[in-house]
Amino acid sequence: MSSDRVDIRPLTGALGAEILGLDLSAPLSEPAANALRKALLDFGVVFLPDQSLTVDQHKAVARYFGDIFVHPNFKGSGDDPEIVFVRRNPGDVAIVGEDWHSDTAMMQSPPLGAVLYGMEVPPYGGDTLFACQYAAFNALSPAMQQLLGTLKAVNSDRNVAGPRAAMNAKRSTKVREDDGWTETFHLHPVVRTHPETGRKALFVNRPYTLSFEGMTEAESRPLLEFLFQHSVRPEFTCRLRWTAGAVAIWDNRCVQHLAVNDAGPFPRLMRRVQIAGDRPY
Ligand code: SIN
Repeated sequence: MSSDRVDIRPLTGALGAEILGLDLSAPLSEPAANALRKALLDFGVVFLPDQSLTVDQHKAVARYFGDIFVHPNFKGSGDDPEIVFVRRNPGDVAIVGEDWHSDTAMMQSPPLGAVLYGMEVPPYGGDTLFACQYAAFNALSPAMQQLLGTLKAVNSDRNVAGPRAAMNAKRSTKVREDDGWTETFHLHPVVRTHPETGRKALFVNRPYTLSFEGMTEAESRPLLEFLFQHSVRPEFTCRLRWTAGAVAIWDNRCVQHLAVNDAGPFPRLMRRVQIAGDRPY
């Protein structure tokens, strides 16, 4: 059993904490699992360096938070639909997650979060950035907060998967581009209430959010563009420099993230398990 004493070191004023003293390869005691869950709620994203996780141990970490979410679009990740290998090979011109986003936001119930494990990491480059969407919402004027609170937005996967997105020619991690693929889209509130903390978070992102309900994409674009830029201002962010064996767990309900496409000549391989979430409200 892992120690119940968890050392939590906050990273920036907005979000993120490093957690030391937990061995995720062993079953966590109830107090340790509770501390991990609380840290995720408190900090939005947590980093645990120097782990060594088999696939089953990796899934067990995800299950401390909920059921496992199966991604509808990734393919070629092996036989196990609960696992996505996020692979970047030298020569790739694009990578998974290189724009700021909330994962899989087109689903009726987008994932609660994800557990990402660094299997092969570059000596430098390939960091992951995170942005706190509570902070983004709180920094808006009361009038803008009120307006956004009345709006819903269309979230679609048409720009990230399927034949029109044409991602597979550019990168090693493949998504569905077959003729049988169909777009998935759902309306979500622009401001969502976190089901566990009760706090309000901005919930729009550039790859998935196309328009506001009842408006054209052209009509929606100016305000969406403002929100896409506002939501990832530097003071809302933190940055993870990966080391082999590090684990990042993020809360997709209140955090956006971005994988920096700067690994140059180096390969990068991450193993990801997503956690099922609920419908935004
Ligand atoms: C992602 O889940 O968007 C990928 C993040 C990363 O590879 O750093």
